[in-house]
Formats: sequence, structure tokens, C-alpha cells
Amino acid sequence: MVAENIAVVVLAAGLGTRMKSSLPKVMHPLAGRPMINHLLDTVAALAPQRVVVVIGPGMEAVAQAVAPHPAVLQAEQLGTGHAVRQAKEALAGFTGTVLVLYGDTPLIGRPTLEAMLERRGGRLNPAVVVLGFRPADPAEYGRLVVGPDGLSAIVEYGDATPDERALDLCNAGVMAIDGGRLFALVDGLSNANAKGEYYLTDIVGLARAEGAACAFVEGEPEELLGINTRRDLAAAEAVVQGRLRRAAMDNGVTLEDPGTVHLSWDTRLGQDVHIGPFVYFGPGVTIGNGVEIRSFCHIVGATIAPGADVGPFARLRPGALIGRQVHVGNFVEVKNATLEEGVKVGHLTYLGDARIGAGANIGAGTITCNYDGFNKSFTDIGKGAFIGSNTSLVAPVVVGDGSIVGAGSVITRNVAEGSLAVARGTQLELPGWVERFRERKRAEKEARKKE
Ligand code: UD1
Ligand code: MG
Repeated sequence: MVAENIAVVVLAAGLGTRMKSSLPKVMHPLAGRPMINHLLDTVAALAPQRVVVVIGPGMEAVAQAVAPHPAVLQAEQLGTGHAVRQAKEALAGFTGTVLVLYGDTPLIGRPTLEAMLERRGGRLNPAVVVLGFRPADPAEYGRLVVGPDGLSAIVEYGDATPDERALDLCNAGVMAIDGGRLFALVDGLSNANAKGEYYLTDIVGLARAEGAACAFVEGEPEELLGINTRRDLAAAEAVVQGRLRRAAMDNGVTLEDPGTVHLSWDTRLGQDVHIGPFVYFGPGVTIGNGVEIRSFCHIVGATIAPGADVGPFARLRPGALIGRQVHVGNFVEVKNATLEEGVKVGHLTYLGDARIGAGANIGAGTITCNYDGFNKSFTDIGKGAFIGSNTSLVAPVVVGDGSIVGAGSVITRNVAEGSLAVARGTQLELPGWVERFRERKRAEKEARKKE
């Protein structure tokens, strides 16, 4: 059961200086998209009535990434309590439960949020439910002080006594708060503390002082990993990759060596897809049932129809549409090109800005010369055509259905349907020439010696 009335405030105004980056922290990607979008996806599953993201100055990219949710500006970073206050207008009149989340803690799972909401709506009617966790190293997290009647306070590390620092139950930062009281509590915050900031965490003590109950729920350290450094980012990426790989396998995909396969948040893999070791899937990839992807492929923005086989060592770039039963072999690069059913392109080829008709055979070393230094042009190869090895197709050019292009050709003009086109130097053969040549050279050498 989840409370019906939910609003969400995501805090993302922090500078993230430890990332040492010109990109706002929450824009750093996990599995190919900004971390904040992972969090917003999790939040969307709760069907909140409103979502507000608090951003800092110069974070237009974040505002764009979170649209259509509104982003409100916190002009100065005066603390987490001050950040929440910036959402006051956006949440005017809202009296349900307000979930406060951190943009840099994007791995939190839906069940944990649901547990918090359930606790909010349950026994004691707590004004604030805090998410606690017990990390291996409690470091400088805020500590939850729990008394006989529930959560009594959160103490920030910098303000904590040695006894409080010894507590291992830490504040993850996530809170579910009674929306009817939130802004009154936040307005009562003071910044008389170690950091001189308005701590959101102090609302627990304030609520208790007013006689309201507070509670906590415990989450898993893995989902509460906060991203502050590039190392944290890598650790979070590992968590996300683990989740994506497990989901793929649960859906009937074989990963021969899961730890070496990189997936993106939106990678769609059909049933009985078989993936060899060391394969990279960037964003925008869809793969149909029964497709085989061999080792060392790099695939981004491509769609592969059922029954195709790709690799090893293939590179599929955005706009590659690989049809049914197509074979794409080693060292083949495909970009913005449609390979219709049954096309074979086995080795060492570049197909860019092209259509390859059904059943065509593309010989080793074929190149579509799609770029003249100014414009990109299109190559159209008809169905059943046979392109001999080491052919250059200088676009724009059309090779008709069923045509054959001789190996080593440089094709600059259209080839009509059913024709043979050969565009290379004609082979010259001079019978007996070699012996005559050698005879002459020997004689010349003898003559020089005698001089
Ligand atoms: C906070 C908690 C601490 C908790 C820890 C968990 C407070 C006072 N402390 O500490 O109890 O253990 O998180 O990670 O809340 N932010 C703003 N505006 C601000 C300040 C922060 O938007 O003025 C945002 C940051 O972008 C970040 C989040 O709030 O997403 C947390 O801020 P941060 O400074 O990292 O808080 P901590 O000191 O880690
Ligand atoms: Mg932090």
C-alpha cells in the first residue's frame, strides 16, 4: 500500500566539486543517461502528483534533463533545508507526503521508497520518516539517534559527540515528510551549527519538540551509494550494470561472461539472444529474438532483427538497421544503413548511408564512399546484388537488383539491374615475357662487369 498523495523534491543544487568536472554532478551518466534520470524513473513508478527539482546557478542542462518537471533555482547553497525551502511555491497547497531525495543518490529502489511511504501512512502517523542505513564505513554521514519512542534526532557528523559518532545507523538523506507541516518546520531551521548551513535533518528534532512522532526505515547500503567522486561514479556504474545484466538474463538472454558485457539503460534484448564476452551496448539498441552477438562488438543506436548474427569485432553505429537472418562478420562497420533480410557482409567493410537489398552479398573490403569532404551521399544496392571484394562504391550511386560488380572496382556510375560492372585496370598478360626480361637484365649486368 502506498499513500495516494505524493510529491517529490529532488535536491540537485550542490556543486559536486569533488567530481572535478564542468558537467553538473547529476548529469554524469550511468548506463548511458544522466544519473538524475535514473532517479526520476524510479520516482515515476510511484505516480507522484508533483515532482520538483532544486538546481543551482548555471544548471540549465539539468533543468532540460528533468523537463517537464519544473526545476527551481537555489541561488546560493545554504544547506539541504534551505534547498527544500525553494520548493515552497511549487508545492503550495500540497498536504500529502513529500519525499525528499538527493540527485546524487540515484540507485535507491522503489521497494525502499514504498516502505517509507507505508511507514508514513501507518501507526503513529509520523511527521517525518527518515531512511537509515548501516554502511560498512559510517564515515561522516549524519547519525540517527533512536530513543524508546522512535527516531528522536539526526545529528550531523560535524556536530556530533563521540558517543553519537559511535552510532552506526546513518542518515541516507531520503525523507518522507508530512506536506502539511514541512514548510513550517523548514522555516524554523537555524544555521547555528558546525557548517553554518540550514540542515534539513534538523526538522526531526523540531517535529519532536512539537510533539509529533518521527520514524525511520532501513535501506541497503548498495542502493544508497552517494556519488561524490569519479570513483563513486564507477562503483555506481557497476551496481547499475549488475542490475541490467541480471534483468537481461532473467528475460532469457545468455551472457557468456556477464561481467564483460556493458549494457545501456534502454538496451532491449529479445529472448534467446546470445551474447559473447566483451560486447558494448551504447544507448538506443534493440535486438530481436534469437540474435547472436559474438565477442568484441561495439553497438550504439542500432536495431537488429530476429535471427541475425553479428561479429566478432563488428561496429554498428546509429541508424544501422540489420534485417532478419543478416550476417555481419568481423571488422564490419555499419552506420545509417539498412541491411535487408538475408544480406551477407562478412569481412572488412564500411557501409554508411546505404540500403542493401535483400539477399545481397557484400564482398570483403567493400567501402561505400559516402563523404566527399562536404556532403554525405547515399548508396543503394538492389536485392540479390553481388559486390565483389575490395569494391569502392562512390556515392551517390545505385547498383540495380541482381547486378554483379567485379572485385576491385571503383563504381562511380549507376549499374543497371542485372548487369555486370567492372571498373578496374584491364589485366594484361604477355606470354614468355619474364624469360626475355631476365635474359636482357643478365646481359646488361655482364656488360657492366667487363667495363
Ligand atoms: C547530507 C545529510 C547527512 C546525510 C548525507 C547522506 C544534511 C544536513 N545532511 O549530508 O545527514 O548522512 O547527506 O549522503 O542534510 N544540496 C542542495 N543545496 C544545498 C546543499 C545541498 O541542493 O544547499 C543537495 C546536494 O546537491 C546533494 C544533497 O543536497 O544532492 C546533499 O547535500 P550534501 O552537501 O552532499 O550533504 P551531506 O553533507 O552529504
Ligand atoms: Mg553528500
